[in-house]
Amino acid sequence: MFRFCKLALLATAMIVVMPMESIIATSTGARPIVIGHRGASGYRPEHTLEAYTLAIAQGADFIEPDLVPTKDGVLIARHENEISGTTNVAERPEFAARKATKMIDGAPVTGWFTEDFTLAEIKTLRAKERLEFRDQSRNGLYLVPTLQEVIDLAKQKSRETGRTIGIYPETKHPTYFQSIGLPLEDRLLKVLSDNGYAGANAPVFIQSFETANLKYLRTKTDLPLVQLFDESDVQPYDFVVSGDRRTYGDLTTPAELAKIAEYAKGIGPYKRLIIPVDASGKLLPPTSLVRDAHQAGLLLHPYTFRNESRYLAPDYNNNPEAEYEQFFRLGVDGVFSDFPDTGVAVRNRLAPVSGQAR
Ligand code: G3P
Ligand code: CA
Repeated sequence: MFRFCKLALLATAMIVVMPMESIIATSTGARPIVIGHRGASGYRPEHTLEAYTLAIAQGADFIEPDLVPTKDGVLIARHENEISGTTNVAERPEFAARKATKMIDGAPVTGWFTEDFTLAEIKTLRAKERLEFRDQSRNGLYLVPTLQEVIDLAKQKSRETGRTIGIYPETKHPTYFQSIGLPLEDRLLKVLSDNGYAGANAPVFIQSFETANLKYLRTKTDLPLVQLFDESDVQPYDFVVSGDRRTYGDLTTPAELAKIAEYAKGIGPYKRLIIPVDASGKLLPPTSLVRDAHQAGLLLHPYTFRNESRYLAPDYNNNPEAEYEQFFRLGVDGVFSDFPDTGVAVRNRLAPVSGQAR
């Protein structure tokens, strides 16, 4: 009897303990989030309502619109203001004369620019897939959405699914757009405010690779802000303009992270700042960035997770789930993913809905 009870107790303890052993540790105890990077952009042309819709259907918690303005000041979802890589603008003879070369963030860029098109004109274009090795079959089918349309979709899907679908807008080229009289920040805040997003717990993260515009935003809103980090030897463009010589690598020290925590809720680092690779692409031991950011009180949402072999370190043996698992086990608070279904599958396996991350 004693032996039976002891075994029964042991079995009960295992039932309780085993799920906890499979649960991963984020800084807040919440499950890590999966952010549909430009939508489910591994499956659909990026930054289209169809790409965002698929991301939500695959379980993404947030959808990510990168933002640039039109000539008439409407925020639209595009990764950059030059749109020949993601729309059919170059095939439209009536717009041929708008082809231009401009200096964008210190580099010459040739093509067609959103700031030279009204929203009505943008709406005559159709999206196309940027990457030649991805599915081209939906080129020409989808429109370029406004931020308002992305928000409408997030709210509609939140109602339909009973899940809160957050939005994760990124201000693209803020110094440049300020220089041409089309600053992004107040336009973004107005759209968010008009749609009821308010306070530190709203389902929104505003992100930027620049620092000055985030500090400005901090003076205007309580909404969560995220400081993006590019590769370690690159500088924020506002630093280039102001003569500040610090790089993103310089900003990863505990002292700099503490300063970032004064205006941001989290950081969005290039994933190689967390797990570097050697010259052959082989993984190196993780840096202390996850621990250091968490100690500064910052969330971490690294980017970008992609399924294709060309993006995976050889250590993962062509298994993208292995990469998510490594980062989740390090304690990141979320991931930007082109393939949200893969990220969600791994997240759900490691952090079941019924469980709480430690
Ligand atoms: O915003 C996170 C990630 O999207 C940053 O890279 O170039 O894809 O906007 P990018
Ligand atoms: Ca982005």
